[in-house]
Amino acid sequence: MASTAILHRTPWRPPVSTTAEGVYVELEDGKRLIDGVGGAAVACLGTNHPKVIKAIKDQLDTLTYVYNMQLSSKPAEELAKFLVDSSDGAFELIAFASGGSEAMEAVIKLARQYYVEIGQPKRKNFIARQLSFHGNTLSTLSLAYHPARRAPYADILDTEHFHHVSPAYAKRFQRADETDEQYVERLRQELEDKFLELGPDTVIGFVAETVVGATTGVVGAPKGYFTAMKAVCEKYGALFILDEVMSGMGRMGSLHAWQSVGDGASPDLQAVAKGLGGGYASIGAVLMSPKVSRGIMGGSGLLKHGHTYQAHPLACVAALAVQKVIVEEDLLSKAVENGELMSKLLCQGLQAEGALSRPFCFDIRGRGAFWCIEFDFDVLEAATLCSRGESFAMAVQARCFDNGLIVMGMTGGANVEGTKGDHVILGPAYNATTEEIKKMVDVFVQSVEEILKEWQT
Ligand SMILES: Cc1ncc(COP(=O)(O)O)c(C=O)c1O
Repeated sequence: MASTAILHRTPWRPPVSTTAEGVYVELEDGKRLIDGVGGAAVACLGTNHPKVIKAIKDQLDTLTYVYNMQLSSKPAEELAKFLVDSSDGAFELIAFASGGSEAMEAVIKLARQYYVEIGQPKRKNFIARQLSFHGNTLSTLSLAYHPARRAPYADILDTEHFHHVSPAYAKRFQRADETDEQYVERLRQELEDKFLELGPDTVIGFVAETVVGATTGVVGAPKGYFTAMKAVCEKYGALFILDEVMSGMGRMGSLHAWQSVGDGASPDLQAVAKGLGGGYASIGAVLMSPKVSRGIMGGSGLLKHGHTYQAHPLACVAALAVQKVIVEEDLLSKAVENGELMSKLLCQGLQAEGALSRPFCFDIRGRGAFWCIEFDFDVLEAATLCSRGESFAMAVQARCFDNGLIVMGMTGGANVEGTKGDHVILGPAYNATTEEIKKMVDVFVQSVEEILKEWQT
Protein backbone atom coordinates (compact mmCIF):
# COMPACT_ATOMS: atom_id res chain seq x y z
CA MET A 1 0.00 0.00 0.00
CA ALA A 2 1.33 3.45 -0.90
CA SER A 3 2.15 5.48 2.19
CA THR A 4 -0.33 8.04 3.46
CA ALA A 5 -0.64 10.36 6.45
CA ILE A 6 -4.44 10.18 6.28
CA LEU A 7 -6.33 7.78 8.54
CA HIS A 8 -8.60 6.55 5.78
CA ARG A 9 -12.10 5.11 6.13
CA THR A 10 -11.17 1.98 4.22
CA PRO A 11 -8.71 -0.79 5.11
CA TRP A 12 -6.94 0.08 1.84
CA ARG A 13 -5.63 3.46 0.76
CA PRO A 14 -8.11 4.83 -1.77
CA PRO A 15 -6.40 5.57 -5.10
CA VAL A 16 -5.66 9.26 -5.61
CA SER A 17 -7.86 11.04 -8.13
CA THR A 18 -6.39 13.92 -10.07
CA THR A 19 -8.95 15.29 -12.52
CA ALA A 20 -12.56 14.74 -13.45
CA GLU A 21 -14.84 15.58 -16.31
CA GLY A 22 -18.59 15.06 -16.22
CA VAL A 23 -19.13 11.57 -14.84
CA TYR A 24 -15.53 10.50 -15.44
CA VAL A 25 -12.73 10.61 -12.88
CA GLU A 26 -9.05 10.13 -13.64
CA LEU A 27 -6.53 8.65 -11.19
CA GLU A 28 -2.87 9.51 -10.77
CA ASP A 29 -1.87 6.30 -12.55
CA GLY A 30 -3.88 7.40 -15.58
CA LYS A 31 -6.81 5.01 -15.01
CA ARG A 32 -10.17 6.52 -15.98
CA LEU A 33 -13.36 5.55 -14.14
CA ILE A 34 -17.00 6.26 -14.82
CA ASP A 35 -18.78 7.26 -11.62
CA GLY A 36 -22.05 5.35 -11.39
CA VAL A 37 -23.00 6.70 -7.99
CA GLY A 38 -21.81 10.32 -7.97
CA GLY A 39 -19.49 9.65 -5.03
CA ALA A 40 -22.15 8.88 -2.42
CA ALA A 41 -25.20 9.95 -4.42
CA VAL A 42 -23.88 13.50 -4.37
CA ALA A 43 -22.49 14.64 -7.73
CA CYS A 44 -25.86 15.18 -9.40
CA LEU A 45 -24.41 17.26 -12.25
CA GLY A 46 -21.12 15.46 -12.65
CA THR A 47 -18.00 17.23 -11.54
CA ASN A 48 -17.38 20.33 -13.59
CA HIS A 49 -20.53 21.96 -14.86
CA PRO A 50 -19.37 25.26 -16.42
CA LYS A 51 -22.17 27.34 -14.87
CA VAL A 52 -21.43 26.08 -11.37
CA ILE A 53 -17.68 26.54 -11.80
CA LYS A 54 -18.23 30.11 -13.04
CA ALA A 55 -20.52 30.96 -10.13
CA ILE A 56 -17.92 29.70 -7.64
CA LYS A 57 -15.07 31.56 -9.39
CA ASP A 58 -17.08 34.79 -9.48
CA GLN A 59 -17.85 34.43 -5.78
CA LEU A 60 -14.17 33.85 -5.02
CA ASP A 61 -13.49 37.26 -6.56
CA THR A 62 -16.29 38.87 -4.55
CA LEU A 63 -16.67 37.54 -1.01
CA THR A 64 -15.26 34.31 0.33
CA TYR A 65 -16.33 34.17 3.97
CA VAL A 66 -18.45 35.87 6.57
CA TYR A 67 -19.46 34.56 9.97
CA ASN A 68 -23.18 33.96 10.07
CA MET A 69 -23.72 35.50 13.53
CA GLN A 70 -22.27 38.77 12.25
CA LEU A 71 -23.11 38.97 8.57
CA SER A 72 -25.33 37.27 6.03
CA SER A 73 -24.45 37.07 2.32
CA LYS A 74 -26.28 37.43 -0.96
CA PRO A 75 -25.75 33.77 -1.99
CA ALA A 76 -27.12 32.53 1.36
CA GLU A 77 -30.16 34.81 1.16
CA GLU A 78 -30.83 33.86 -2.47
CA LEU A 79 -30.44 30.15 -1.86
CA ALA A 80 -32.81 30.25 1.12
CA LYS A 81 -35.35 32.16 -0.98
CA PHE A 82 -34.97 29.64 -3.80
CA LEU A 83 -35.64 26.76 -1.41
CA VAL A 84 -38.73 28.45 0.04
CA ASP A 85 -40.10 29.65 -3.32
CA SER A 86 -39.72 26.22 -4.94
CA SER A 87 -41.59 24.42 -2.17
CA ASP A 88 -45.20 25.33 -3.05
CA GLY A 89 -45.71 26.63 0.47
CA ALA A 90 -44.33 23.55 2.23
CA PHE A 91 -41.43 25.48 3.73
CA GLU A 92 -41.11 28.99 5.07
CA LEU A 93 -37.67 29.26 6.68
CA ILE A 94 -34.28 27.68 6.06
CA ALA A 95 -31.21 27.03 8.20
CA PHE A 96 -27.91 26.02 6.67
CA ALA A 97 -25.38 23.38 7.67
CA SER A 98 -22.22 22.00 6.10
CA GLY A 99 -23.45 18.48 5.31
CA GLY A 100 -26.03 15.82 6.03
CA SER A 101 -25.08 14.87 9.59
CA GLU A 102 -24.92 18.53 10.59
CA ALA A 103 -28.31 19.13 8.97
CA MET A 104 -29.85 16.20 10.88
CA GLU A 105 -28.19 17.30 14.11
CA ALA A 106 -29.77 20.71 13.53
CA VAL A 107 -33.14 19.04 12.88
CA ILE A 108 -32.94 17.28 16.24
CA LYS A 109 -32.07 20.47 18.11
CA LEU A 110 -34.51 22.65 16.19
CA ALA A 111 -37.37 20.24 16.83
CA ARG A 112 -36.62 20.38 20.54
CA GLN A 113 -36.23 24.18 20.38
CA TYR A 114 -39.65 24.43 18.76
CA TYR A 115 -41.39 22.65 21.64
CA VAL A 116 -39.50 24.63 24.27
CA GLU A 117 -40.54 27.85 22.53
CA ILE A 118 -44.21 26.93 22.21
CA GLY A 119 -44.37 25.94 25.86
CA GLN A 120 -44.24 22.13 25.64
CA PRO A 121 -40.86 21.38 27.24
CA LYS A 122 -42.03 17.93 28.34
CA ARG A 123 -41.49 16.71 24.80
CA LYS A 124 -38.10 15.01 24.71
CA ASN A 125 -38.46 11.76 22.77
CA PHE A 126 -37.75 11.00 19.12
CA ILE A 127 -39.06 7.94 17.31
CA ALA A 128 -37.12 6.81 14.26
CA ARG A 129 -36.79 3.48 12.47
CA GLN A 130 -34.60 0.43 12.52
CA LEU A 131 -32.25 0.02 9.55
CA SER A 132 -32.11 3.77 9.06
CA PHE A 133 -29.18 6.13 8.68
CA HIS A 134 -29.21 9.77 9.71
CA GLY A 135 -25.54 10.61 10.03
CA ASN A 136 -22.35 9.86 11.87
CA THR A 137 -22.46 12.22 14.87
CA LEU A 138 -23.41 10.67 18.19
CA SER A 139 -26.94 12.11 18.18
CA THR A 140 -27.66 11.15 14.61
CA LEU A 141 -26.26 7.64 15.26
CA SER A 142 -28.56 7.44 18.30
CA LEU A 143 -31.48 8.60 16.20
CA ALA A 144 -30.79 6.10 13.43
CA TYR A 145 -30.46 2.37 13.75
CA HIS A 146 -27.83 0.45 11.83
CA PRO A 147 -26.33 -2.23 14.08
CA ALA A 148 -22.81 -2.28 12.59
CA ARG A 149 -22.40 1.50 12.55
CA ARG A 150 -23.64 1.81 16.13
CA ALA A 151 -21.65 -1.12 17.52
CA PRO A 152 -18.41 0.58 18.68
CA TYR A 153 -20.36 3.45 20.24
CA ALA A 154 -23.36 1.53 21.59
CA ASP A 155 -22.45 2.19 25.21
CA ILE A 156 -22.30 5.94 24.74
CA LEU A 157 -25.33 6.40 22.49
CA ASP A 158 -28.45 8.04 23.87
CA THR A 159 -31.07 5.34 24.36
CA GLU A 160 -33.18 7.46 26.68
CA HIS A 161 -34.47 9.96 24.11
CA PHE A 162 -34.19 8.03 20.84
CA HIS A 163 -36.54 5.12 20.14
CA HIS A 164 -37.19 2.90 17.16
CA VAL A 165 -39.98 1.22 15.27
CA SER A 166 -39.87 -1.22 12.34
CA PRO A 167 -38.63 -0.23 8.92
CA ALA A 168 -41.16 0.09 6.09
CA TYR A 169 -39.54 -2.46 3.81
CA ALA A 170 -42.23 -4.53 2.19
CA LYS A 171 -40.02 -6.82 0.13
CA ARG A 172 -38.36 -8.09 3.32
CA PHE A 173 -40.83 -7.55 6.13
CA GLN A 174 -44.38 -7.57 4.74
CA ARG A 175 -46.01 -10.86 5.71
CA ALA A 176 -47.11 -13.21 2.97
CA ASP A 177 -50.70 -13.11 4.23
CA GLU A 178 -50.80 -9.31 4.47
CA THR A 179 -52.15 -6.85 1.88
CA ASP A 180 -50.29 -3.55 1.36
CA GLU A 181 -53.01 -1.78 3.35
CA GLN A 182 -52.70 -4.25 6.22
CA TYR A 183 -48.93 -3.86 6.24
CA VAL A 184 -49.23 -0.06 6.39
CA GLU A 185 -51.83 -0.38 9.15
CA ARG A 186 -49.51 -2.69 11.16
CA LEU A 187 -46.72 -0.12 10.93
CA ARG A 188 -49.09 2.74 11.75
CA GLN A 189 -50.34 0.88 14.81
CA GLU A 190 -46.78 0.14 15.91
CA LEU A 191 -45.96 3.86 15.76
CA GLU A 192 -49.10 4.78 17.66
CA ASP A 193 -48.29 2.13 20.29
CA LYS A 194 -44.80 3.60 20.66
CA PHE A 195 -46.31 7.08 21.18
CA LEU A 196 -48.62 5.65 23.86
CA GLU A 197 -45.80 3.72 25.53
CA LEU A 198 -43.60 6.83 25.76
CA GLY A 199 -46.47 9.13 26.63
CA PRO A 200 -47.81 11.00 23.58
CA ASP A 201 -47.12 14.41 25.12
CA THR A 202 -43.43 13.50 25.51
CA VAL A 203 -42.83 12.79 21.83
CA ILE A 204 -41.08 15.44 19.73
CA GLY A 205 -41.48 13.67 16.43
CA PHE A 206 -41.25 10.72 14.13
CA VAL A 207 -38.21 10.75 11.80
CA ALA A 208 -37.76 8.79 8.58
CA GLU A 209 -35.76 8.82 5.38
CA THR A 210 -38.32 9.28 2.62
CA VAL A 211 -36.34 6.73 0.64
CA VAL A 212 -33.90 4.76 2.76
CA GLY A 213 -30.43 5.02 1.28
CA ALA A 214 -27.27 3.98 3.02
CA THR A 215 -28.60 1.01 4.99
CA THR A 216 -31.18 -1.00 3.07
CA GLY A 217 -30.55 0.58 -0.34
CA VAL A 218 -33.17 2.71 -2.05
CA VAL A 219 -36.16 1.41 -0.13
CA GLY A 220 -39.32 3.45 -0.55
CA ALA A 221 -42.29 2.92 1.73
CA PRO A 222 -45.55 1.32 0.61
CA LYS A 223 -48.22 3.68 -0.69
CA GLY A 224 -50.14 5.30 2.12
CA TYR A 225 -47.39 4.76 4.70
CA PHE A 226 -46.26 8.37 5.04
CA THR A 227 -49.83 9.66 5.12
CA ALA A 228 -50.54 7.21 7.95
CA MET A 229 -47.39 8.08 9.92
CA LYS A 230 -47.99 11.81 9.51
CA ALA A 231 -51.54 11.34 10.79
CA VAL A 232 -50.23 9.70 13.98
CA CYS A 233 -47.85 12.64 14.52
CA GLU A 234 -50.67 15.12 13.98
CA LYS A 235 -53.02 13.22 16.30
CA TYR A 236 -50.56 13.62 19.17
CA GLY A 237 -49.25 17.08 18.27
CA ALA A 238 -45.77 15.82 17.35
CA LEU A 239 -43.64 16.69 14.33
CA PHE A 240 -43.42 14.66 11.14
CA ILE A 241 -39.76 14.83 10.10
CA LEU A 242 -38.12 13.64 6.88
CA ASP A 243 -34.45 13.06 6.17
CA GLU A 244 -33.90 13.67 2.47
CA VAL A 245 -30.15 14.09 2.72
CA MET A 246 -29.64 11.33 0.15
CA SER A 247 -32.98 11.05 -1.64
CA GLY A 248 -33.86 14.73 -1.91
CA MET A 249 -33.09 17.65 -4.23
CA GLY A 250 -34.01 15.83 -7.39
CA ARG A 251 -32.57 12.35 -6.98
CA MET A 252 -36.00 10.70 -7.18
CA GLY A 253 -37.01 12.88 -10.13
CA SER A 254 -38.87 15.41 -7.98
CA LEU A 255 -37.24 18.25 -6.08
CA HIS A 256 -38.35 16.67 -2.80
CA ALA A 257 -38.67 12.90 -2.65
CA TRP A 258 -41.95 13.09 -0.71
CA GLN A 259 -43.52 14.78 -3.73
CA SER A 260 -43.10 11.68 -5.93
CA VAL A 261 -42.67 8.73 -3.59
CA GLY A 262 -43.87 9.92 -0.18
CA ASP A 263 -47.64 10.26 -0.72
CA GLY A 264 -47.11 14.02 -1.14
CA ALA A 265 -46.96 14.16 2.68
CA SER A 266 -45.01 17.35 3.37
CA PRO A 267 -42.99 17.27 6.58
CA ASP A 268 -42.79 19.75 9.44
CA LEU A 269 -39.02 19.62 9.21
CA GLN A 270 -36.75 18.26 6.50
CA ALA A 271 -33.02 17.86 6.04
CA VAL A 272 -31.35 17.99 2.63
CA ALA A 273 -27.68 17.93 1.71
CA LYS A 274 -26.04 15.81 -0.96
CA GLY A 275 -27.91 16.96 -4.06
CA LEU A 276 -28.15 20.49 -2.72
CA GLY A 277 -24.53 21.34 -3.48
CA GLY A 278 -23.96 18.41 -5.81
CA GLY A 279 -20.47 17.92 -4.40
CA TYR A 280 -19.30 21.39 -5.52
CA ALA A 281 -19.34 22.46 -1.88
CA SER A 282 -20.05 21.08 1.58
CA ILE A 283 -23.58 22.15 2.36
CA GLY A 284 -26.77 20.93 3.96
CA ALA A 285 -29.98 22.64 4.93
CA VAL A 286 -32.95 22.32 7.24
CA LEU A 287 -36.27 23.27 5.69
CA MET A 288 -38.93 24.45 8.12
CA SER A 289 -42.67 24.24 7.54
CA PRO A 290 -44.89 27.27 8.23
CA LYS A 291 -45.94 25.60 11.52
CA VAL A 292 -42.39 25.27 12.85
CA SER A 293 -41.30 28.62 11.40
CA ARG A 294 -44.16 30.46 13.05
CA GLY A 295 -43.67 28.64 16.34
CA ILE A 296 -40.08 29.80 16.46
CA MET A 297 -40.76 33.29 15.14
CA GLY A 298 -43.45 33.64 17.80
CA GLY A 299 -40.86 32.72 20.43
CA SER A 300 -37.19 33.66 20.32
CA GLY A 301 -37.28 34.33 16.57
CA LEU A 302 -33.84 32.83 16.05
CA LEU A 303 -31.94 29.60 15.52
CA LYS A 304 -30.33 28.52 18.78
CA HIS A 305 -27.82 26.31 17.04
CA GLY A 306 -24.99 26.90 14.65
CA HIS A 307 -21.55 26.27 13.30
CA THR A 308 -18.72 28.46 12.07
CA TYR A 309 -19.10 27.52 8.41
CA GLN A 310 -22.88 27.51 8.25
CA ALA A 311 -24.25 29.53 5.29
CA HIS A 312 -20.75 29.80 3.83
CA PRO A 313 -21.01 32.12 0.79
CA LEU A 314 -19.02 29.81 -1.48
CA ALA A 315 -21.10 26.78 -0.51
CA CYS A 316 -24.34 28.72 -0.97
CA VAL A 317 -23.34 30.16 -4.34
CA ALA A 318 -22.37 26.67 -5.55
CA ALA A 319 -25.65 25.16 -4.34
CA LEU A 320 -27.69 27.96 -5.89
CA ALA A 321 -25.94 27.44 -9.22
CA VAL A 322 -26.54 23.66 -9.02
CA GLN A 323 -30.23 24.21 -8.34
CA LYS A 324 -30.56 26.72 -11.20
CA VAL A 325 -28.93 24.26 -13.61
CA ILE A 326 -31.37 21.53 -12.54
CA VAL A 327 -34.27 23.84 -13.40
CA GLU A 328 -32.80 25.37 -16.58
CA GLU A 329 -31.76 22.02 -18.05
CA ASP A 330 -34.95 20.24 -16.98
CA LEU A 331 -32.89 17.64 -15.18
CA LEU A 332 -35.68 16.24 -13.03
CA SER A 333 -37.28 14.88 -16.21
CA LYS A 334 -33.89 13.72 -17.47
CA ALA A 335 -33.28 11.87 -14.19
CA VAL A 336 -36.60 10.05 -14.54
CA GLU A 337 -35.84 9.14 -18.17
CA ASN A 338 -32.38 7.88 -17.22
CA GLY A 339 -33.91 5.87 -14.39
CA GLU A 340 -36.33 4.13 -16.72
CA LEU A 341 -33.47 3.20 -19.04
CA MET A 342 -31.27 2.05 -16.16
CA SER A 343 -34.03 -0.15 -14.77
CA LYS A 344 -34.74 -1.73 -18.16
CA LEU A 345 -31.06 -2.43 -18.83
CA LEU A 346 -30.42 -3.80 -15.33
CA CYS A 347 -33.37 -6.18 -15.64
CA GLN A 348 -32.25 -7.28 -19.12
CA GLY A 349 -28.69 -7.87 -17.94
CA LEU A 350 -29.21 -9.46 -14.54
CA GLN A 351 -32.42 -11.37 -15.04
CA ALA A 352 -31.80 -12.65 -18.55
CA GLU A 353 -32.24 -16.32 -19.31
CA GLY A 354 -28.82 -17.85 -18.70
CA ALA A 355 -27.44 -14.95 -16.66
CA LEU A 356 -25.55 -16.33 -13.66
CA SER A 357 -27.03 -13.54 -11.54
CA ARG A 358 -30.62 -14.48 -12.29
CA PRO A 359 -31.30 -16.71 -9.23
CA PHE A 360 -29.57 -14.31 -6.86
CA CYS A 361 -31.02 -11.02 -8.09
CA PHE A 362 -33.55 -10.46 -5.30
CA ASP A 363 -34.68 -6.98 -6.30
CA ILE A 364 -33.96 -4.15 -8.71
CA ARG A 365 -35.59 -1.04 -7.31
CA GLY A 366 -35.50 2.68 -7.54
CA ARG A 367 -36.57 5.69 -9.52
CA GLY A 368 -34.87 8.63 -11.16
CA ALA A 369 -31.18 8.72 -10.31
CA PHE A 370 -31.33 6.35 -7.34
CA TRP A 371 -31.16 2.57 -7.92
CA CYS A 372 -30.38 -0.50 -5.90
CA ILE A 373 -29.71 -4.06 -6.89
CA GLU A 374 -30.21 -6.39 -3.96
CA PHE A 375 -28.78 -9.91 -4.08
CA ASP A 376 -29.84 -12.83 -1.93
CA PHE A 377 -28.09 -16.15 -1.58
CA ASP A 378 -30.72 -17.93 0.51
CA VAL A 379 -31.71 -19.93 -2.56
CA LEU A 380 -30.96 -23.49 -3.66
CA GLU A 381 -28.71 -22.35 -6.50
CA ALA A 382 -26.31 -20.88 -3.95
CA ALA A 383 -25.16 -24.41 -3.11
CA THR A 384 -22.97 -24.24 -6.22
CA LEU A 385 -21.14 -21.13 -5.00
CA CYS A 386 -18.14 -20.69 -2.75
CA SER A 387 -17.68 -17.15 -1.44
CA ARG A 388 -14.59 -17.88 0.69
CA GLY A 389 -16.13 -15.63 3.33
CA GLU A 390 -16.26 -12.61 1.02
CA SER A 391 -19.25 -10.29 0.87
CA PHE A 392 -20.78 -10.38 -2.58
CA ALA A 393 -21.71 -6.68 -2.61
CA MET A 394 -18.20 -5.65 -1.65
CA ALA A 395 -16.66 -8.06 -4.17
CA VAL A 396 -18.84 -6.53 -6.87
CA GLN A 397 -17.89 -3.02 -5.79
CA ALA A 398 -14.19 -3.92 -6.03
CA ARG A 399 -14.56 -5.68 -9.37
CA CYS A 400 -16.54 -2.76 -10.83
CA PHE A 401 -13.71 -0.48 -9.76
CA ASP A 402 -11.14 -2.71 -11.47
CA ASN A 403 -13.35 -2.67 -14.55
CA GLY A 404 -13.59 1.12 -14.49
CA LEU A 405 -16.88 1.83 -12.68
CA ILE A 406 -17.55 3.36 -9.27
CA VAL A 407 -20.56 1.87 -7.40
CA MET A 408 -21.46 1.61 -3.73
CA GLY A 409 -21.68 -1.85 -2.17
CA MET A 410 -23.47 -2.30 1.15
CA THR A 411 -23.95 -5.14 3.59
CA GLY A 412 -26.26 -5.83 6.51
CA GLY A 413 -29.46 -4.27 5.16
CA ALA A 414 -31.59 -7.38 4.77
CA ASN A 415 -32.43 -8.08 8.40
CA VAL A 416 -32.92 -5.98 11.49
CA GLU A 417 -29.89 -7.54 13.17
CA GLY A 418 -27.75 -6.23 10.30
CA THR A 419 -26.11 -9.61 9.74
CA LYS A 420 -27.44 -10.34 6.26
CA GLY A 421 -27.64 -8.45 3.01
CA ASP A 422 -25.79 -7.65 -0.16
CA HIS A 423 -26.78 -4.70 -2.21
CA VAL A 424 -25.22 -2.24 -4.56
CA ILE A 425 -26.36 1.34 -5.12
CA LEU A 426 -26.19 3.21 -8.40
CA GLY A 427 -26.86 6.93 -8.44
CA PRO A 428 -25.80 8.51 -11.69
CA ALA A 429 -25.63 12.24 -12.31
CA TYR A 430 -29.05 13.56 -13.37
CA ASN A 431 -27.49 14.77 -16.63
CA ALA A 432 -25.71 11.52 -17.50
CA THR A 433 -26.11 10.71 -21.20
CA THR A 434 -27.81 7.60 -22.55
CA GLU A 435 -24.40 6.22 -23.54
CA GLU A 436 -23.06 6.82 -20.05
CA ILE A 437 -26.02 5.04 -18.43
CA LYS A 438 -25.54 2.10 -20.81
CA LYS A 439 -21.85 1.95 -20.00
CA MET A 440 -22.53 1.99 -16.23
CA VAL A 441 -24.98 -0.91 -16.52
CA ASP A 442 -22.77 -2.87 -18.94
CA VAL A 443 -19.75 -2.73 -16.64
CA PHE A 444 -21.91 -3.49 -13.61
CA VAL A 445 -23.52 -6.58 -15.17
CA GLN A 446 -20.16 -7.79 -16.50
CA SER A 447 -18.61 -7.41 -13.01
CA VAL A 448 -21.47 -9.29 -11.31
CA GLU A 449 -21.18 -12.13 -13.80
CA GLU A 450 -17.41 -12.31 -13.41
CA ILE A 451 -17.63 -12.66 -9.62
CA LEU A 452 -20.34 -15.32 -9.83
CA LYS A 453 -18.29 -17.27 -12.36
CA GLU A 454 -15.29 -17.21 -10.02
CA TRP A 455 -17.46 -18.26 -7.07
CA GLN A 456 -18.74 -21.35 -8.86
CA THR A 457 -17.29 -24.50 -7.39
C1 LIG B 1 -30.26 9.81 4.94
C2 LIG B 1 -28.94 10.36 5.35
N1 LIG B 1 -28.88 11.21 6.38
C3 LIG B 1 -27.71 11.75 6.78
C4 LIG B 1 -26.53 11.41 6.16
C5 LIG B 1 -25.23 12.00 6.63
O1 LIG B 1 -24.75 12.92 5.69
P1 LIG B 1 -23.22 13.35 5.68
O2 LIG B 1 -22.44 12.15 5.29
O3 LIG B 1 -23.17 14.47 4.67
O4 LIG B 1 -22.88 13.83 7.04
C6 LIG B 1 -26.55 10.51 5.08
C7 LIG B 1 -25.29 10.13 4.40
O5 LIG B 1 -25.25 9.21 3.64
C8 LIG B 1 -27.78 9.98 4.68
O6 LIG B 1 -27.86 9.09 3.67
